[in-house]
Amino acid sequence: MAAAGSAVGLGNIWKFPYIAGENGGAAFLVVYLICVLLLGLPLVMTEFLIGKHSGKSAYGAFKELKGTNRWQWLSWMCMLTAMLFIGFYFVVTGWCFNYLFEALTNVLHGAEMDSLSTHFTQVISNKPRMILFSLFPVLLTATVLWFGVNKGIEKLSKVLMPLLLVMMVLMAVRVLMLKDSAIGMQFFFQADFSKLNPQAVMKAMGQCFFSLSIGMGALITYGAYMPKNQSVSKTSMQVVILDTLVAILAGMIIFPAVFAFGMDPAEGPELVFVILPAIFEQMSFSYIFGVLFFSLLCIAAITSTISIMEVSVAFVNEATGGRLNRHKSVLLVSAAVIPLVLACVFSNSVFDVFDTLTSCVLMPLGALGMALFVGWNLPNYNHFAGKVFIFSVRWIVPIAILVIFLNSVGIIQ
Ligand code: PHE
Repeated sequence: MAAAGSAVGLGNIWKFPYIAGENGGAAFLVVYLICVLLLGLPLVMTEFLIGKHSGKSAYGAFKELKGTNRWQWLSWMCMLTAMLFIGFYFVVTGWCFNYLFEALTNVLHGAEMDSLSTHFTQVISNKPRMILFSLFPVLLTATVLWFGVNKGIEKLSKVLMPLLLVMMVLMAVRVLMLKDSAIGMQFFFQADFSKLNPQAVMKAMGQCFFSLSIGMGALITYGAYMPKNQSVSKTSMQVVILDTLVAILAGMIIFPAVFAFGMDPAEGPELVFVILPAIFEQMSFSYIFGVLFFSLLCIAAITSTISIMEVSVAFVNEATGGRLNRHKSVLLVSAAVIPLVLACVFSNSVFDVFDTLTSCVLMPLGALGMALFVGWNLPNYNHFAGKVFIFSVRWIVPIAILVIFLNSVGIIQ
C-alpha cells in the first residue's frame, strides 16, 4: 500500500491528463498502456527484487548483490534523479496545497472558466505565495521522514487510496452527465494514430516511468522494507493496476469536462487546475467535494514525495556508514532540496529542464541500467513466469527503451 501511495500521485491526476491531451488523447492512451505492460510491470518487479534481495537502499543494493563497485554509478544516478525530480515535484505539490487552501476559503466559488485560467497564471507568478506553498510540503515530508517510513504511511494509504478512488468514480459519473461530455469520451477512447509521433511515444514511456515511480530507486528502497514472505510479482501487479486505474479515471473526469466546458485539451500543465474547480461548481455539496478532493490530492502527492525523498535519506545514511543517522540525513537532504525547489519556483525553464531531463532521460537510463543488472546478474528462474520475466529484462525492456529513446532524438527512424 505504501508503494501504491508512492505510485499514485501527481503523475496520475495532474500530468497524465495534460500530456495525453497534448498528444492526441486515445492514441496516447494506447501507447501508454503498451508501455505499462511491456516496460512498467517488469521494471516495478525489477526494483522491488533488487531492494528485497539486498535489503539495502539504492546506495548499497547493487554492491551488496554483485560484490563489486562496478554498478555504483547507477546508485549515484538514482540519487541525482531523485533530487532533480523532487525539485519540481514539490512545486506542483505546492500548487495543490494552494488550491486546497482556496477550496477551504471558498474563493473560487462562482468563478467563470476564463477567470479560472487567469487565476492559475496569477497563482504561479505570485512568488512569495508559491515559496510558502512549496516549502510547506517539504516541511511535512521531512517531518514524516524524521520519524521513519513505517506502518503509519501504510495505514494512511490503506484508507485514503480507496477513498480517492471512490471520489473519482463519483466525479466521473457527474461529469458524464454534462452536455457534450461524449465528445471527451471519444477523444480519450477512440484512437487517431495520425497524431502520434516519436516524441509522443517517448513521452508515453517517460509518463509510464513517472507514474509508476520507476528509475530512481524509490521502489528499491521500499523493496528493502518488504517482509520476506511477501510476493514481489503480486505486489507489483497490484501497484501497476491501481496506478493505471487512477490515471484512466483521471482522464475520464478531465476530458469529458474539457469538452463540456468548451476548453482545449492541449491546454498544458494548468489543465486540471482549471477544470477541477469548474467541475466542483457543477456538483451539489460543491464546497465539501472541493475540499475533500484537494485534500486527497495533497495526500497522494505527499505519499509520493515521502518515497522520493526517502531515496536520498536512505542513500546518505548508508553512504556515510550510518554516521549520519536518520535525523541528520533528513536535515541534510532537506537543506539540499530547498534551493532546488526555489530554483523551480523562480524559473519556468529550470522547472521544465528538471521535468523533461528526469522523465525522458534519467529515469529511462536508470531503468535500463536496473533491467540489465537484474537480467544479466541474477540467477534465472526455473518456472515459466520467471523465465519470461528474465527474458524481458534482459532483452525486451533494454531494447525497447533504447529504440524509443534513439527514435525520439532522431538518431534512428
Ligand atoms: N509516481 C509518482 C506520481 O505519479 C511520482 C514518483 C516518481 C514517486 C518517482 C516516486 C518516485 O506522482
